[in-house]
Amino acid sequence: MALTLPDDFYATHWQKSPVFLPAASTVAALAPSPEQLWDWARDSHHARLIRPLADFAVDLEPDHPPSECHTLLVGHVETHSPTLAAWAAALPALGRWRFADLMISHAMAGASVGAHRDQYDVFLIQIRGQRQWDVGTLADRALPEINTGGSKLLDGFTADFTVTATPGDLLYIPPGCGHRGVALDDECMTLSVGFRMPSVFDVLERLNEVAPAPLLTDATRTGAPGNTLCGVEVREQLLSWIQQAPAHELSLAFGLAATQLGEPTDPTELSQHMGFAPGVRAVWVEGELIIQGEAFIGLDHASYQALCTPDGLATEGLSGEAIAILETFAEEGWLVSI
Ligand code: SIN
Ligand code: CO
Repeated sequence: MALTLPDDFYATHWQKSPVFLPAASTVAALAPSPEQLWDWARDSHHARLIRPLADFAVDLEPDHPPSECHTLLVGHVETHSPTLAAWAAALPALGRWRFADLMISHAMAGASVGAHRDQYDVFLIQIRGQRQWDVGTLADRALPEINTGGSKLLDGFTADFTVTATPGDLLYIPPGCGHRGVALDDECMTLSVGFRMPSVFDVLERLNEVAPAPLLTDATRTGAPGNTLCGVEVREQLLSWIQQAPAHELSLAFGLAATQLGEPTDPTELSQHMGFAPGVRAVWVEGELIIQGEAFIGLDHASYQALCTPDGLATEGLSGEAIAILETFAEEGWLVSI
């Protein structure tokens, strides 16, 4: 079991309110050592070191492991650790297109990245040492942000509740809810599971590719168009176009936006069992498979589903067309041998 959530978790908390769930996961058993994490950091484009005593300066190419009260953050650790990748693949109920990445922080006693809000849903799971969390509410979406040293911190953040997380404890934070973690010892390691969502603008941008939009007509309530636009009428025209757009094209645009920018791995060759590479985003939309912001026809739904499972897809006996598609995916670095 990747993690244990209460039965009412999605109905009560998901995207609605933060919640602290003690002993929700056994993933702490997969925690890297500080030395291992630093090795991954040196090999990663997604590592940063935050120095709160220097105005929360963000060092994007850290050249030393955390010391004093620094925090080292390493994103996309699923691409470094097959066991963490397998753990993430087994997370309950959320599709792989929703998965952003696994990030691990290692912080020294007293270290913090400051009070902030994230754009996406996040599970913060303690995997070593202890961390105190000050947790806000969705009202923090309205708080102003201060830019300092590369960090964006919340101005005027106050905690609604405070908890101490020990290994296995999970804190769920919905998008926009303020939070601040402070490491209580030099061991402190936290695994963040991020879940992304495309923005409305991402979807509209991709909609242009699948359903070229007709030009709008002049927006005017009172005769000839002049120098003044009528906002209500523009909105009505846009809404009416969206309402009449074919649902299939809307979902395709959503799928293209939702899967772009995943993290491919190295090209590979087909073997007997293949699965999606960790960090690669894919979704099935009514007969079409969308991977990394591109749509493909020619692979059936059962094969797609098998690619998503821990056992992968058996390639023996597949049609020549399916093999050709899988070879393209493998060359792109979207598949791994299982
Ligand atoms: C951390 O692990 O130090 C910060 C993670 C977060 O607040 O999102
Ligand atoms: Co955060």
